[in-house]
Formats: sequence, C-alpha cells, structure tokens
Amino acid sequence: MRLCSLILAWALTRPVASQQIWDIWQTTWDREELFTSLAPSTPINFVTPGPPADADIIVTETTVYQTINGFGGSLTDSSALTLNNLKSTNWANYWSILGHVFSVADGVNASGLSYLRVPIGASDFSANLYSLDDVSGDTSFSKFNINNAPSYLFSVIQDILSINPALKVHILPWSPPGWMKTTGTMNGGTIQSNYISAYPTYLLKAVQGFVDQGISIYAISVQNEPENSDSTYPTCTMTPAIEGQIGAALRTLLNNNGLSSVKLVGYEHNWSDAATYPVELMEDDGSSYDGVAFHCYAGTVSEQLSFYDAYPNKNIYFTECTGTIGSDWWSDIKWYMDNLWIGALQNFAEVGLMFNLALDGNGEPTLPGTDSCSSGCRPIVTECRSQNNSLHQEGTHCTSAVYALAQASKAIIPKDAGGPWGQRIEVAVEGSLDWALIVGAYTTKRLSSTDWNRYALVVLNWDDSASTVWNPVPVTATIEFRGMQATYTFPVGMSHL
Ligand SMILES: *[C@@H]1O[C@H](CO)[C@@H](O)[C@H](O)[C@H]1NC(C)=O
Ligand SMILES: *[C@@H]1O[C@H](CO)[C@@H](O)[C@H](O)[C@H]1NC(C)=O
Ligand SMILES: *[C@@H]1O[C@H](CO)[C@@H](O)[C@H](O)[C@H]1NC(C)=O
Repeated sequence: MRLCSLILAWALTRPVASQQIWDIWQTTWDREELFTSLAPSTPINFVTPGPPADADIIVTETTVYQTINGFGGSLTDSSALTLNNLKSTNWANYWSILGHVFSVADGVNASGLSYLRVPIGASDFSANLYSLDDVSGDTSFSKFNINNAPSYLFSVIQDILSINPALKVHILPWSPPGWMKTTGTMNGGTIQSNYISAYPTYLLKAVQGFVDQGISIYAISVQNEPENSDSTYPTCTMTPAIEGQIGAALRTLLNNNGLSSVKLVGYEHNWSDAATYPVELMEDDGSSYDGVAFHCYAGTVSEQLSFYDAYPNKNIYFTECTGTIGSDWWSDIKWYMDNLWIGALQNFAEVGLMFNLALDGNGEPTLPGTDSCSSGCRPIVTECRSQNNSLHQEGTHCTSAVYALAQASKAIIPKDAGGPWGQRIEVAVEGSLDWALIVGAYTTKRLSSTDWNRYALVVLNWDDSASTVWNPVPVTATIEFRGMQATYTFPVGMSHL
C-alpha cells in the first residue's frame, strides 16, 4: 500500500490525441519510495473520456495564475556551519548533498531547491551576536564590514551557486545593529527613532556586500518578524509606518545604485495578521514594495487571501516554517503539502520555504542562550552523527521536509536550463472521493516556442483514516485535460507508525 505524494508530469510530444504521462516521482508514507523516479516504461496515455472515477481531477490550463519562483529554505549561519563542517570531514557527502538538494537539471535525482533566505548579521542560529557594523554611532557606515559574517556563509552560498546558477538569494536582518536599538543590543526592542533615516544605508551596503562576494541578490526584506521582541535572540519590533519609511528610502537607494532589480519585501510574519500589518504597509508605502512574506506560526494559510484580496497585484512570498524534532514523519508531510507546498501556492504564494536548511540531529547549533526552538527545530536536511557524520535525506532519523519540498519543486523548475519557471493553473477534484486528494497543477513554458509546454500535477493522497482506524486506501483517479482522460491509481500505504 503506497503512494502519498507524487508528481505526474506529461509532455505533449505529439498532437493532442497522444498526450502522455511519462515521468512520475513518488514518496510513500512508509518511505519505501523516497522521491523515487518511477518513469513508466510504457507511458500512461490520455484517451477518449469514459465515466469519471470517484476522484476526478479536472485541469483547466486556460486559467493561469502566478509564476512559482522556487522552493527552498534559510541558510542561517548555523546551517552554513553544519554544511561547511561536513565539507571538511566528508567532502564527497557535502557535494552529494548539495547536488541532491540544489541541482535543477531536468530529470535528475535532485530536489531542485532554488531559493535561499539568508540573514544579514546574527539570527537565533548564529555562533554569536554580530551585525555588519558594530561600531556605535557609525551612521556613515564607514566601518561596515561584510566580513563580520563568517566566511563559511559565503563559501557555502558560492558552492550552491556552482551547482545551481539559477539560485535566488533573499537577504534580511533579524535586527539592526545593537547600537541603533532601544535595548542597546540586537536582542529584543526596537530601532531608536533617531537612527531610522540612517538605517536604509546599512541595508544597501548589505546588498552591495553580498554582490562583492559574487552573490547577486534577488530580494531583500526590511525586517524579519516585526511583531516579535525576544530578549534572547536578535529581534526588532517595527510598525508598518516605520517599515514603510525604511523601505521607501531603501528602494530609492537601491534604484540609485544600479540595484533596481532587487525586490523589496515587507512583513515577514504570521498569517494571523495578514489583514492588518501587511495591508497597512501597502497603504503607507506600497509603491516601494514588490510584496509581502508570510510565516506559518499563527493563523491559517487561507488568511493570505485577506492580503491578496486587498492587493492582488502585489506578490506573496511564503518564507518560513520550521519542522520540530520528534514530530511524525508522515503527519508532517500531510501538513506541509496541504498547507504549504500545495496550499500556500493555491493561496497565491510564489515561493515556498522551510526554515533552517541544515542542522544536526538535535536542531543545533543555536545561538548561545537563546530560548528560540527550545524544543528543537528540524531542518530541511539533518546531520546524522550516528551515520558516520554524514548528512542524510533518509526519513527515519532525519527529515521529511526535503521530500515534501522536492515533490513540489520538481513540478515548477525550468524544463530548459535558463528557461521559464512553472505557473500555477486551475485544477479541481470532483467526485465522492474529492477529499482524498489534494492537488496542485502547473505548466512550464519552453525557451523555444516550438517545444511543448510541460504540465505537472502535485498530488497528496491522504486517505489513510489516520484519525480513526488506520485504513489507507489506494485512490484511482481520472485526470481530465483538453477533453481527454487518463487514469492513475494513487496507492496508499500500511501504517508504519
Ligand atoms: C537519489 O538520491 C538519494 C539521495 O542521495 C539516494 O539515496 C537515492 O539512492 C538516489 N536514487 C537513485 C535512483 O539514484
Ligand atoms: C507569531 O510568530 C511568532 C514567532 O515570531 C510567535 O512567537 C508569536 O507568538 C506569533 N504571534 C501570534 C500573534 O500568535
Ligand atoms: C565513514 O566515512 C569515512 C570518510 O568518508 C570513510 O572513509 C569510512 O569508510 C566511513 N565508515 C563507514 C563505516 O561507513
């Protein structure tokens, strides 16, 4: 009994009558399949429609929504250190993990993660508190030094770029430098009003500092979690009015310094305030911002629509959710797919990110003294010391996040190297088993107009009766596309718990 999450990808290699499903990647609840390629030796054909199955997947390619710009996670200092330590102890495993996580080559055994979120200065996952200018009162930022950040942060990003040149890097501070704060430290508090006009120059210099390291910047957010003040790690509260003021000045500085392509992103906090903070930010200084980012820690994903309905032309980024050490592998996958990697996209997100890219099996190292992640945060890939100090993607000891991300990512990465990214298209499930499948549908255009688009479905089959008596039931679905119909059985697994 199998199949929980899979991608069906089909190509129109010949005229409409012979649409075929030829590429299947699968992860089963029992981990017998872990992002396994099941390229069928005989493709599954679309044929003249028969009666719809109890789960009938209806794809409407003419209704096209947002472009999906990639999946990924945060490369905190701790994530970079974990990877860099691996590079010195197990060179082959380091490059193997980077390849399996970041390669976007079509058809290869790799997740194709393409989006990295990187803190500017210290976060709750750093070796110590530091900013990129710790000289008190240096409002000209003459002592700004990008190399206050650990060198392994940049070398790991450069290594990832060598594997995935399409990588998008999005930087943001957990806090301004401590000397600008009401608390006198990066921990807690807010920015002092007399430093608000100077601060955008610090953020400009951060973008320029990354560029000087050979890392071009896709986006910058003004502040991580502006509604969170915590005295044990870098945090900074900021009202929409102040964030808007800083963002507007930063937008001008970026534009005046040849960085007009860098996107400016606001909010970066919980779904629960989607109707208030980010809407107020757009009312104040919307023209400066490309859009806003959401985290999963309070509220529900559908609250993204409160923002979307108010500002449908602004972009939505889903940028943070952490796993938890000890949580159930398959339950996590169901939640991730339903709420994030299918659900956040259905609610108009254009990127999807977990939190830490890599940590050890205990969710360490964290910032000394922090209460953040006190019960253990699970990263995308976990170091398993018991397994010869190597980083593993396997499920038992390690993480479910990479598989869920991989299943979603594979559907939207470019079909052609350097080609366009996938776009979400309309899909619905009908029939008496409509609840059993959670489905996202995507199309990816080609570099050459004579090549056929790729179409892909990302499907979660969660018909496992987990809340009553475990009874996983394979679901046979019909797939309706362009007046033709294919049939596929999404099997489900026996309880492994
Ligand atoms: C795909 O990569 C994973 C992760 O390294 C590995 O465990 C698995 O054996 C690979 N599968 C194939 C078919 O190469
Ligand atoms: C939102 O997320 C933070 C993490 O920054 C959490 O500590 C906080 O309690 C959440 N806010 C609300 C309103 O629940
Ligand atoms: C552990 O890793 C080292 C370095 O890659 C390797 O030489 C050794 O054979 C491995 N040992 C086991 C038991 O896998």
